[in-house]
Amino acid sequence: MRVALITSRSTRLAVVLIVVVTGFNLLLVFSGPSTDAGIERLEQQELEFHLKDVAHAYRSSGLTNVSGAVLYHVQPRYINVIAKPRSRNDFLTIGIPSAKRPTGDVYVLDTIQSILNATSQTDRDRVVVVVFLTDFDVAYNTRLSAAIVERYGRHIDSGLIHVVQVARDVYPPLDGLKRNFNDAKERVYWRAKQVVDFALMFLYAPNVSRYYIQIEDDVKCANGFVPSIERFLNGLVTHRRPWTIVDFSTLGFIGKLLRSSDLRTFAQFLLLFYQEQPVDYLLRAFRVAVAQHEVVMCRPTLFQHVGLKSSLRLTAKDNDNTLKDKYFDDGVFHNPRAVVVASMKTRGNRPQRVYDMATSGANGTFFVAENPHYGSTVDVTFSEPVRLRRVVVVTGSSYFPKQFLHSGVLEAHVKPSDNTENVSCVIYMRLGNFIDGVVDVSVPTFVLPICSLHVRVMQDHETDVVFRQIAVFKA
Ligand SMILES: *[C@@H]1O[C@H](CO)[C@@H](O)[C@H](O)[C@H]1NC(C)=O
Ligand SMILES: *[C@@H]1O[C@H](CO)[C@@H](O)[C@H](O)[C@H]1NC(C)=O
Ligand SMILES: *[C@@H]1O[C@H](CO)[C@@H](O)[C@H](O)[C@H]1NC(C)=O
Ligand SMILES: *[C@@H]1O[C@H](CO)[C@@H](O)[C@H](O)[C@H]1NC(C)=O
Ligand SMILES: *[C@@H]1O[C@H](CO)[C@@H](O)[C@H](O)[C@H]1NC(C)=O
Repeated sequence: MRVALITSRSTRLAVVLIVVVTGFNLLLVFSGPSTDAGIERLEQQELEFHLKDVAHAYRSSGLTNVSGAVLYHVQPRYINVIAKPRSRNDFLTIGIPSAKRPTGDVYVLDTIQSILNATSQTDRDRVVVVVFLTDFDVAYNTRLSAAIVERYGRHIDSGLIHVVQVARDVYPPLDGLKRNFNDAKERVYWRAKQVVDFALMFLYAPNVSRYYIQIEDDVKCANGFVPSIERFLNGLVTHRRPWTIVDFSTLGFIGKLLRSSDLRTFAQFLLLFYQEQPVDYLLRAFRVAVAQHEVVMCRPTLFQHVGLKSSLRLTAKDNDNTLKDKYFDDGVFHNPRAVVVASMKTRGNRPQRVYDMATSGANGTFFVAENPHYGSTVDVTFSEPVRLRRVVVVTGSSYFPKQFLHSGVLEAHVKPSDNTENVSCVIYMRLGNFIDGVVDVSVPTFVLPICSLHVRVMQDHETDVVFRQIAVFKA
């Protein structure tokens, strides 16, 4: 990869970068008057770059066809977007602000890969990933954009991935800021810039999807996190539990979800207080300001921090950031061999097949239990007793929203003692109840090996019940 950098400075700042990546040209242009940057500027219409503007600019800008992948460059005055906006609004935007590490570690490509690994094609059709390159080192951003294009051009072309950069001119002053918390000057600069980075990212996102979730650029995603998020949000609606922010991770700003319609207000809030507090404190303050007094958290959590190096360099020690979320579950399961039998009449796939096909990231196999009665069961008998950490059974269908298990329990038969062979699993345990058609239980570590699982129907159903997934996670 060859990178040519041409800069020219006059009263108007103009930076032109030409990147040559194995046989194609990627032209990135930043230009804008280098007058005083300030908050007023952030309020200017031209900076409120929403999907409509992006789509418009896309139509009026050239596009380059890169070995089959099509690149779309959008250049309003202060921003640069590589994206192919979709015409519809999607379910979820995943925002990834990405900053250069002083140590040279680059994690963002792995984070994108982790999203791809953890999603099905159906998920990807409903999700947009916005990678926001926050570094002021334009040459670095350009190289990173090129690397993203090179590796994920196909996903830019499908509208899944957007790469966004914002010119430094847009930022309010980052020097001479208040030193609250007695923070070092460098830390104040770093955290204030991070607040503005996030605000600018939110201003990009309002009309892209219904919901917005932010992760960091050094994060691993739980397998199947998109349907997990959707299930959790549906549960909040069913239970009329009010929320403005939902946490899908216990850490800082990772896995925080908002409605896209709140992003503008939140961005304005952040810009008002950007020099006062770190961004995760402001997140908490915002939650209180909108009268959400308790944290709404999904467990197990869906995003794990995996990076080792922070983008803030103070001392060698300070540079490390190895925080882990202890409630994270990677969502990867391999159903152990078992015989699966339903006591009720079923159609569709055989229950055995639905169980056997349910590897992580598998396709939508399902079976339909016809009007299950009180006491009917679906039994999973393992070839040999096995220790488990979690079991998930999902019923229901978006096509037939009423066809879920309205009342049911998950039971297990457990060995009474660990070290005796040939003892039958006489201990009965109720692991959990179905809530909104789903049971998702963590099995306590003290539970001995399990011989069989049983879904027991607890009332007569007048509807059919669609069983979509039986996922067994070994300890
Ligand atoms: C891009 O290039 C490929 C291969 O040259 C071609 O098949 C495809 O039609 C082009 N796409 C567009 C949108 O021009
Ligand atoms: C994605 O999946 C591939 C294949 O299973 C694996 O080799 C790779 O490590 C995964 N990458 C990430 C970042 O999870
Ligand atoms: C988002 O879209 C809605 C409906 O299309 C529109 O009324 C609203 O002004 C848009 N909001 C922004 C911030 O662009
Ligand atoms: C899902 O279905 C596709 C097409 O039918 C198939 O190629 C793929 O192997 C299936 N994946 C799994 C995990 O069964
Ligand atoms: C358990 O049963 C198997 C087969 O019935 C037998 O071979 C084995 O000796 C038994 N083990 C113990 C500890 O009783």
